[in-house]
Amino acid sequence: MKDLAGKTAFVTGAASGIGFGIASALAQAGVKVMLCDIEEAALAAALEKLKATNADVDGVRADVSLKGELASAAEATVARYDKVHILVNNAGVGGGGPYGTWSEAAWDWTLGVNLRAVIWGIEIFGPLIERHGEGGHIVSTASIAGLISGGSTAYNVSKYGVVGLSEGLRLDLAPRGIGVSVLCPGFIRTQIVDSGRNLPQRFAGKLSRPPATGPIAERIKSIRDQVAQGLDPLYVGELVREGIENDWPYIFTDNEHEPYVDARFAAIKEGFNRIRGRIPRR
Ligand SMILES: NC(=O)c1ccc[n+]([C@@H]2O[C@H](COP(=O)([O-])OP(=O)(O)OC[C@H]3O[C@@H](n4cnc5c(N)ncnc54)[C@H](O)[C@@H]3O)[C@@H](O)[C@H]2O)c1
Repeated sequence: MKDLAGKTAFVTGAASGIGFGIASALAQAGVKVMLCDIEEAALAAALEKLKATNADVDGVRADVSLKGELASAAEATVARYDKVHILVNNAGVGGGGPYGTWSEAAWDWTLGVNLRAVIWGIEIFGPLIERHGEGGHIVSTASIAGLISGGSTAYNVSKYGVVGLSEGLRLDLAPRGIGVSVLCPGFIRTQIVDSGRNLPQRFAGKLSRPPATGPIAERIKSIRDQVAQGLDPLYVGELVREGIENDWPYIFTDNEHEPYVDARFAAIKEGFNRIRGRIPRR
């Protein structure tokens, strides 16, 4: 989607990290941006920062894992800006751990924010983008953890879901003039490891506590360190803007994890090689 200036975007999880980076980069390109987030104070602070740059932005609070709240946020966006051209399904939480630490609440929370909200975002905003006939673009934030798995089961499942959803949707929406990209970041310097700050009340006290010592604790510490040393979220926002302008199917942020993706594809290829030449029985 070329010529972003004057278009309107709805960005979830926009009060912090990557979402704020995307909102900033789009606003810098002259896009009107409706920032959506569950965290009211952070949303107000984010709006203040962007308004200080003369950006045309507004905000709406919603827990995107509740379909009714997301639908109300869409209504607020249409009331404020009329047409919506760009949907960025970015809100996400780093919930759930490896086998042995699972809980129903962690699965519900993680899949609710990271995957179901993306599905609902598309269901609610898709028709709004289609109805003005000016075309549009949908970006959903998965992760490199949507292509390589290990350690954070619910998170991986949610992010693989976003990749699969985006790949299929791209084919469905191209004839309707809507581009689809999936963002697969590596480690980005955000507040993702403190996702628990936004745990909805309905899950309070229902998540199993991660162990204070041992391999899982070490893994959490290592992720925290790598996120702290991660890339600038505004850089990610600029890549997303470029991805929208040029209709990139996949938006990567760096090549750090590329060898692991190669290894996964090689393992898949090996699976095919193992049965090559056999005549399948029908
Ligand atoms: N930081 C990384 O290294 C990294 C890597 C790959 C993918 N991601 C993905 O990037 C996206 C953004 O995360 P981030 O790293 O910027 O973290 P972040 O915690 O800084 O930002 C996430 C934002 O989502 C909001 N949010 C959380 N739950 C919500 C809900 N139910 N409804 C509405 N908003 C909600 C938070 O308030 C926050 O503003 C997520 O989807 C995350 O999984 C992050």
